[in-house]
Amino acid sequence: MQDVTELESELLGRIAAAGSLETLEAERVAALGRKGRITELMKTLGGMEPEARKAFAAGLNQAKDRITDALNARKDGLSRAALDARLASERVDVTLPARPEQAGRIHPVSQVVDEITEIFAAMGFNIAEGPDIEDDFHNFTALNIPPDHPARQMHDTFYLAEKPDGSRPVLRTHTSPVQIRTMQAGPPPHRIVVPGRTYRMDSDATHTPMFHQIEGLVIDRDIHMGHLKGTLEEFCRAFFEVERVTMRFRPSYFPFTEPSAEVDIRCDRSGGQIRIGEGEDWLEILGCGMVHPKVLQAVGIDPDQWQGFAWGMGIDRIAMLKYGIPDLRAFFDADLRWLRHYGFAALDLPTLGGGLSR
Ligand code: DAH
Repeated sequence: MQDVTELESELLGRIAAAGSLETLEAERVAALGRKGRITELMKTLGGMEPEARKAFAAGLNQAKDRITDALNARKDGLSRAALDARLASERVDVTLPARPEQAGRIHPVSQVVDEITEIFAAMGFNIAEGPDIEDDFHNFTALNIPPDHPARQMHDTFYLAEKPDGSRPVLRTHTSPVQIRTMQAGPPPHRIVVPGRTYRMDSDATHTPMFHQIEGLVIDRDIHMGHLKGTLEEFCRAFFEVERVTMRFRPSYFPFTEPSAEVDIRCDRSGGQIRIGEGEDWLEILGCGMVHPKVLQAVGIDPDQWQGFAWGMGIDRIAMLKYGIPDLRAFFDADLRWLRHYGFAALDLPTLGGGLSR
């Protein structure tokens, strides 16, 4: 019978020499497996005299323990080496410069949202968002558009299936319901801008059923129309990146504001291109007004204590205007060639200091 000490040192030598997890596993099976050399020795114990068995079993068990320990230690070492090798082969050099020609592009709508929110954030506005699927109260009633109000027809609303309680959710027709949600969520003052998707049953060369708006709302004490004009004028100057923008506030009607106005900016259309800020033409860009007392009452705000102004602006058209994009529908075609042409570099976030669009 083989000497256990001799066998142990042979096996330990083989374990130490195993160069991979696979050969190590083969060595384990050869030593401790069902037909392994240690296992075979164990099987001989049964036929031994009690005295001899006791001494032999003690030595054999100790050898087996040491071999098991050696197997485990070698396995740890090999695993760590394998991991190190893999980490080395998959190493990423994070100091390499980005490769803009390979990066995705920012959609003009996202770019314009980033620009507009950047401008208003610098004026102290927060960004708010609300759900695309709205209820009647937030989209209409609380905004002073009761069920039989003619303004509901103006909205070409997408209605969803009736709920068990008889109510019908809608795809929001404007971002104005987020005014209501914001005022319900906490006490005034409020100063928010709300970019988001809006929906109307309308589809032609200049309308898509889904489009984008950005809403603004300020609620504070002693707020008047001068604040509204100043805020929007500052916005237009920053957004169109020109020194001066001549604006025109035209009386208009919205149920949720009183007085209401539509805002046009001066532009020049001669020579096939639109230049903003000067010229002989006017271009309508947004609707606005002083928040109607009934809207404040609908959310439990006392109109004698608090006043405010609001505005709503279509983003898609203004993006087309600013970046000379001719066709609205291409915005939503998900055509990569179009996006490469009209999109923006992903790493160039618009900042007021660094320039919004370049
Ligand atoms: N919600 C209006 C629309 O979709 C736009 C609008 C007009 C929003 C005046 C306002 C506002 O907040 O004061 O046509």
